[in-house]
Order: sequence, then structure tokens, then C-alpha cells
Amino acid sequence: MTRRIAIIGTGWVGTSVAMATLQAGVADELWLHDARSAIAEGEAMDLAHGAAFYPPCRVRAVAELAEVRACDVVVVAAGRNGKPGESRLDLLRDNARLIAEIGRTLASGFDGTVVLVTNPVDVLTQVMTEASGLPPSRVLGTGTMLDTARLRQMLGAELRLDTHSIHAQVIGEHGDSEVVLWSGARVGGMPLRQWQGWDAATLEPRIAHDVRRAAYEVIQRKGATNHAIGLVTANLLGTLLRGERRLLTVSRLQSGACALQGVALSLPTVVSAAGGTEVIEPAMDEAERAALQASAEVLRRALGTLAG
Ligand code: 2OP
Repeated sequence: MTRRIAIIGTGWVGTSVAMATLQAGVADELWLHDARSAIAEGEAMDLAHGAAFYPPCRVRAVAELAEVRACDVVVVAAGRNGKPGESRLDLLRDNARLIAEIGRTLASGFDGTVVLVTNPVDVLTQVMTEASGLPPSRVLGTGTMLDTARLRQMLGAELRLDTHSIHAQVIGEHGDSEVVLWSGARVGGMPLRQWQGWDAATLEPRIAHDVRRAAYEVIQRKGATNHAIGLVTANLLGTLLRGERRLLTVSRLQSGACALQGVALSLPTVVSAAGGTEVIEPAMDEAERAALQASAEVLRRALGTLAG
């Protein structure tokens, strides 16, 4: 069976997703669509010219948005990105209209999974779920997968250990109200808080701050973030297409886990070929539990501003 991925939006982020996806070898075909069709064509040509250096994959541009319905996974990276100092929620109005339009296009003739990357990713995951009518398990935002990756990298640097030995998660909003699950963080199976020399009182606030501010710091310097989100998305695509049943902190419309209903945000979720079907309630201490509810409230309010 041909594994086919479409990427809508071939700007900084969409092209980094394309590059990482090609190198990961997760698809047989990669289709690119952009409202500026010449850009999508140019990117498809450029990426195709490198075919000698990644596993076999046919890259092509598609002119009509509706064509992407033929794909197993549609990645949405269209929309404008954040300006220096702008929060992800400030982007909301500008990008919601576009995402709803793409969602309506996928409402019929599409039986795959949508991966939302455009910010603010949680609210737009909800907008996409509602506009497309797809089951919530089939509309996943990259959510706090990126923040989780940043946390693991920063903890690894702090402890002078490879990031793969660090197991720690960020949940909630992909944004300012995100929640680091310090109480469950593990280093090679050992609770982080029992790690020799771990000074929770100083290190946890500092690292949580650095994870939360990471995108702002990058955007201030280079105008956008693209490489890490490209790698994160390729990892999610591989999990979906290979049916790996990995636990990932993806965003989806929640329906009961952690007492959350009718709001899209990230919780550990089993991702497989069927999408993000099983949401797992992580162990949390009282402060983390309260912070998660506060994060959900931020997102509900943001969604509310859209209705107004
Ligand atoms: C990031 O966190 C801006 O959401 C993007 O890199």
C-alpha cells in the first residue's frame, strides 16, 4: 500500500517538516500544497532533486487543495507565524479562518488523519475537528511534543546525559500556560527528584521558564522556529504510518481524561495507525493538576474570543 502524506503550507515550517519526513523515510509519496502554487512547485522540485540521498519517496506539488483528500495523513502548516514578542494566541484570529476552510475541504472524501502544526495549535486543532467533522482521534496537533522535546534536551544538558535517557513530559497548552510534569520525570528509570544533586527549588522554575520561552528566544533571533518542529512532526508521522502505538504528548479534543471535556490540549496519548485513540491520565501532584485545569481555562477563553 502506498503511504501518502500531504503538507499544506510550504513556508519555513512546512518545508522543514518535508525535509525531516523525507529523511525519516516514512512515506512513499509526499505531496505539497500551498496557496502560492509556484512556491509549492519550486519546493517539490528542489526536494525531489535530492532523491539520491533519502529513502525512496516521490515528491510532487498539488495545485488544488481538494486533491490532498487522497492522502493517509494531511499535515497543516499553513498560516502566518508569530512575530517577535507575539504569543501564539495572538495569532488565533488570523489563522482560524484558514484552518476552518481547510477543515471543510476535508469534511468529505477523506478518511485519514490530520496533523495540525499551525499556531495556536491547540485552539486550531479544535477548529479543525469541528470544521472537518472527523473524530477527535483523527485530528491531532503536535501540541506539547515540541515542549517535551525541549524539556528533555535541556534536562539532558543540565545533567550531562543524552536526551534519550530523560523521560519527562510537558502537557496542557503548547504555549505560556503549559505544565511540566516534574513529579513524574525520570532519569533512566529513577525519579528525577531523587537524582543526586538535583535542586528542585532552583532548577525546576529555571528550566520550566526556559522551555516556555524557547520559541520566543529563537523567533527573536531568526524570525521563526522550524527545525525542531520539523523533526517532531516527522516523528509523529512515522508513528501514525507505522502504527507504532507510541505514547506522545499530542493535542486533541479531550473527552473526559483528567476531567477535561470540550477543549483541545496535550495529554499523553497512544498514537497508532488509528490516530490518537487512547488518552492516558498521567500521575500528577496537586499543583500540576491545578495547573492543567488553569491551562484548559486559558484555551477555553481563547476559543471563546473566536466566537465573539
Ligand atoms: C515553537 O514552539 C513557535 O510553536 C512554535 O517553536
